[in-house]
Amino acid sequence: MAAELLSRRQHTADTLKLLGTISDSVARAQRLVADLLDYTLLQEGRGIALHPVLCDLSEAVARCVEELRLTCPDYPLIHLHLGERSALFDKDRLHQAVGNLVANAVAYGERGAPIQVTSRSYGRAATVSVHNWGVPIPAELLGRLFEPLVRGQQRAAKAGSIGLGLFIVRQIAQAHAGEVSVTSTEQAGTTFCITLAMPLPQ
Ligand SMILES: Nc1ncnc2c1ncn2[C@@H]1O[C@H](COP(=O)(O)OP(=O)(O)OP(=O)(O)O)[C@@H](O)[C@H]1O
Ligand SMILES: [Mg+2]
Repeated sequence: MAAELLSRRQHTADTLKLLGTISDSVARAQRLVADLLDYTLLQEGRGIALHPVLCDLSEAVARCVEELRLTCPDYPLIHLHLGERSALFDKDRLHQAVGNLVANAVAYGERGAPIQVTSRSYGRAATVSVHNWGVPIPAELLGRLFEPLVRGQQRAAKAGSIGLGLFIVRQIAQAHAGEVSVTSTEQAGTTFCITLAMPLPQ
């Protein structure tokens, strides 16, 4: 937060770059701690704690994207909303899931290429997807991606990642009576899509 506030003042390009690196490292540490804590609780047989509220999906995802932009200034991070606006979900949990997906898009996608977050709400079901360009995920990894402690062979995956991000994303989606799916090809890029399908209150 302090680094983000500082970055809004006048600085040289070098200082701004350093502040970007600090924001990125802090966000990464926060993500790892949150995922590790959830993993430990899940191992203990406790489910993902969820506080769903009926709210504006477009606004919640826009805020989340705005915050994530500060952690990856070198990537155009685009948000698009389609359909109705309201949906039933836990804002913090959605933020955690989208944060994990965007962090992956930055770590494993094509450097500097646009990353698109699309939210949609249609009646009972809402979806949030994250798309990036770059080398597609190998077929043998696609089937195991959402299992805990599974990592790929990329340099970014070997350096300091633990393979929990997508496992937690799946737990969050399932806690919302939904799922997460992935498609990944050279031509179409990589898209992860979370469905939120909790029954709306009558
Ligand atoms: N958008 C993506 N493009 C290409 N490969 C991806 C993408 N997202 C995930 N992967 C691959 O899936 C693996 C598992 O991702 P996951 O987020 O679960 O763990 P991680 O990123 O390795 O570690 P952590 O998220 O715990 O820091 C990654 O190591 C990477 O190989
Ligand atoms: Mg990850």
